[in-house]
Amino acid sequence: LRVAVLASGNGSNLQSILDKAAAGVLDVDVRLVLCNRPDAYALQRAAQAGVPHLCLPHGDFPDRESFDAAMVAAIREAGADAVVLAGYMRLLTPLFLNAFAGRVVNIHPAVLPAFPGVRGAADAHAYGVKITGCTVHFVEEKMDHGPVIIQAAVPLNPEEDVEALKERIHAMEHRIYPQALQWLAQGRLVSAGRTVRLAPPAC
Ligand code: GRF
Repeated sequence: LRVAVLASGNGSNLQSILDKAAAGVLDVDVRLVLCNRPDAYALQRAAQAGVPHLCLPHGDFPDRESFDAAMVAAIREAGADAVVLAGYMRLLTPLFLNAFAGRVVNIHPAVLPAFPGVRGAADAHAYGVKITGCTVHFVEEKMDHGPVIIQAAVPLNPEEDVEALKERIHAMEHRIYPQALQWLAQGRLVSAGRTVRLAPPAC
């Protein structure tokens, strides 16, 4: 599966994908890492791994559509067929989503539809839930919304602060995102309405 990874920050999920692909246990070829912030550490991770990377600062564009159009062009140019959001902190326009229809995935640090938004893990912690986790889903226009591919549960430890919780959610993300991408690469994700079913592996 040839993918572009979009990131705005640290890029630890990007790293887990790069590491598993390099180890030969994930059939994903990261053709491009695209960041909207020049200080995103994800750019350095890409450079270190020898993966093509590009920063398109969103502030350089007059509106969301022109910014997304530039991203679509860069992703096509890189030869990627699917788009992996890994801590990408901007909403995508229909222009972008239509260009890669059904082939844009995201990871969120909560069990959707609970606690969407940029503070998913902190909101779950503040609410006092006993179980939270993370979700990989296909992307729709609405933020943190779309058919669920895989979810993992992370039970809260009593007295745990939000930073410790975020760390444990992150560790779980690094397991489920490569898994979801491997299923996508194998063509095993079958959509039935809003439900995503996992087909058995081809033999
Ligand atoms: C992750 O918690 C992910 O769920 C959310 O943004 C964070 C990105 O972390 N969408 P990283 O940049 O991959 O370390």
